[in-house]
Amino acid sequence: MTDTLFTQTLKGQPSERVPFWFMRQAGRYLAEYREVRSQAKNFMNFCYSPDLATEVTLQPLRRFDMDAAILFADILIVPDGLGQKVWFTPGKGPELEPVRDQAAVDRLNPAAVLDKVAPIFETVRRVRADLPGDKALIGFAGAPWTVMTYMIEGEGSRDHAAARQLGYGHPHVFGALLERVVDATADYLIAQIDAGADAVQIFDSWSAALPERAFRDWVIAPTKEIVRRIRTRHAETPIIGFPRLAGSMIEAYAAETGVTALGLDTGVSPTYARDVLQPKMTVQGMLDPHMVVAGGPAMEAEAKLLLETLSGGGHIFNLGHGFVPETPVDHVGALSEQILAFRR
Ligand code: CP3
Repeated sequence: MTDTLFTQTLKGQPSERVPFWFMRQAGRYLAEYREVRSQAKNFMNFCYSPDLATEVTLQPLRRFDMDAAILFADILIVPDGLGQKVWFTPGKGPELEPVRDQAAVDRLNPAAVLDKVAPIFETVRRVRADLPGDKALIGFAGAPWTVMTYMIEGEGSRDHAAARQLGYGHPHVFGALLERVVDATADYLIAQIDAGADAVQIFDSWSAALPERAFRDWVIAPTKEIVRRIRTRHAETPIIGFPRLAGSMIEAYAAETGVTALGLDTGVSPTYARDVLQPKMTVQGMLDPHMVVAGGPAMEAEAKLLLETLSGGGHIFNLGHGFVPETPVDHVGALSEQILAFRR
């Protein structure tokens, strides 16, 4: 594996130019994405079609000169691989057959995951073969807690009531589920790296507002175990942790999980990121995706603030959460040009 500006920056090596990519850079804001999406029977099928998934993974890099592509797939591939029923109804978001008791946990099979999701690794191989050598490919998975909120609730939810209540009230069932999700997620990420991913990101999108004990047991400990397992096979591959809205727990997450770099949400203060987090590791993120919808001087000023504030250490430019579908493509172009022109 050869290093790119992106992987070098993740590992903390200084560079003059700031590398960048955007969460949800492949998606509905691109007309060419919507065109390909309309060819797929349903969303899961789309993720499992290497032809279509390879195409949409590469689409954003044909328009913008970002430093990395991110594999087109979804965090709900792992529950599907475990044997849980997962489906997407257009306009409704993900739906799953909820797992809430020991019998449902026992039906999930981590040993079957890699075979079941094999088309994902074919997509990784194809994208890596098609990408120029100076561009990185990012693999990803959801973190166990975030994936389990969907597995237990059976859908997206605001406060993750069923998942929290299962964790507090039935710790053995919750723990058994957590163990299976950790096994499957570690195997899945290792297989993506085996297939050619140059770095991986672990999305903990719903790590907000957990009590400290729960954050340590459900967010930090499983992430640390996944990182440990990846390291036994791929000691050098950068791992980005994205504990979205982790609040004051972010420092413990950074210190204890073993991740190489930190993805930061829109609520993290740039000076706090510079003073407290960046001395420990490369940071990525923070730009509000709605700034890119607005565009113009507001977006330009915010991007400039991030570039300048973080110019003294490891920085990957990114958003604090994914692009929304109404993002004007021209605004993404203007932002990309601004980042490319910046020199430390
Ligand atoms: O470009 C990329 O970032 C790579 C692909 C990617 C998708 N989902 C494609 C997708 C990635 C990295 C994800 C991660 C993901 N999926 C997360 C974590 C990141 C985050 O946003 O917090 C979560 C929580 C999910 C679960 C999920 N998948 C939801 C809630 C939805 C529905 C929301 C919606 O916008 O409809 C999805 C579907 C999904 N995953 C879409 C895309 C492009 C939209 C579906 C479509 O095009 O029909």
